Amino acid sequence: MEVAQRLQRIPPYPFREIAAIKREMQSRGVEPIDFGIGDPDLPTPDFIIEALYQAAQDPATHPYDESGFGLPEYKQAIADFGKRRFGIEVNPEGEIQSCLGSKEALAHIIWAYIDPSDVVLVPDPAYSVYKVQTTWCGGAPFPMALDAEAGFLPDLAAIPTPVAKAAKLMFLNYPNNPTGAVADREFFQDAVAFAEKWDLLIVQDAAYCEVAFDGCEPPSILEVPGGKERAIEMHSFSKTFNMTGWRIAWAWGGKPQIEALSKVKSNVDSGTFMAIQRAGIAALAGYQQVVARMRAEYQARRDTLVEGLNSLGWNLEKPRATFYVWAPVPPRFASSADFCAALLRDCEVLAIPGSAYGDAGEGWFRMSLTLKGPDRIGQIQEAVRRMGERMPGLWD
Ligand SMILES: Cc1ncc(COP(=O)(O)O)c(C=O)c1O
Repeated sequence: MEVAQRLQRIPPYPFREIAAIKREMQSRGVEPIDFGIGDPDLPTPDFIIEALYQAAQDPATHPYDESGFGLPEYKQAIADFGKRRFGIEVNPEGEIQSCLGSKEALAHIIWAYIDPSDVVLVPDPAYSVYKVQTTWCGGAPFPMALDAEAGFLPDLAAIPTPVAKAAKLMFLNYPNNPTGAVADREFFQDAVAFAEKWDLLIVQDAAYCEVAFDGCEPPSILEVPGGKERAIEMHSFSKTFNMTGWRIAWAWGGKPQIEALSKVKSNVDSGTFMAIQRAGIAALAGYQQVVARMRAEYQARRDTLVEGLNSLGWNLEKPRATFYVWAPVPPRFASSADFCAALLRDCEVLAIPGSAYGDAGEGWFRMSLTLKGPDRIGQIQEAVRRMGERMPGLWD
């Protein structure tokens, strides 16, 4: 049986191909140093696991969560976190939606708003979900290039007027995957003004909001005037608390957009396991301690990798957030795929070609600071050593 056209139209999920190359190497007994997928290697903290264990023993957590939006105490914990972390007021009644990971929410908000031919402004490079789901809804993604010279922020003034007029959604993702860029409040203010002018909704993907360094505290778009009315923002427990497999996240924003997301979800899933929501409450209560450790860990790895690459001829600034290092491909390589293939072949070091994130990602590659196996700093040093030894004169 042939699969639907919508499946045939999309390229394979980029990491699947990388995973296939890696498996082939492993079958030959070669284990690459894997800077590929961004999936935290630190375990979920014990107190969160304990909270799940306790909650799962209570039969009251076992049925469907019929609230639809999430348990009142879970949404209250999120609203309290919003006040503490961002100084924002979010009403747990109607302005918060519990989600099965932010990926799910990012996909379903598109189903809530996009009809065939509707325009969606999508950053390029970007996490693949925005474009794929837009295409599945019959919408027209319009790329907003993220250039290094502009701090990897889209140039809103460069969006052609007919496109801005036709657009219904604009995706933003700060802190940004893959570039590691952070948006400040001024940019969010400009984006909200743009959304007001052209009557569109901003979807701000804040999955990496807590993975930040050197004292940086990335803002929420809800902090700026008009943000709540003009945006929906997705936050996730995945990267903050090392809980990627747990599938727990939330969306917050104005009532209409939360209701629209909720309506789609009520027809697709039946809520987040209530024991996991209770574990989420415990996680948010322990935020300070977990996040301090997580940030210190990735910051040390970031420093080792960026200083290492710079010692080989790169001229990178240290990213202020996310666990990604986004670096230009040395000029002697025809494409980012060529460079990453050479890196894998010659150094057994796995990085992701920037072209996997969109046309504007060509000429760049991404290295994730999440690594499997012991001694992560040692692995980073070894990768840099191999690159220096086996790919000499990269920037000559
Ligand atoms: C930019 C971005 N947004 C969202 C997600 C999804 O995270 P989750 O669904 O685990 O919350 C990811 C995962 O890698 C991501 O990179």
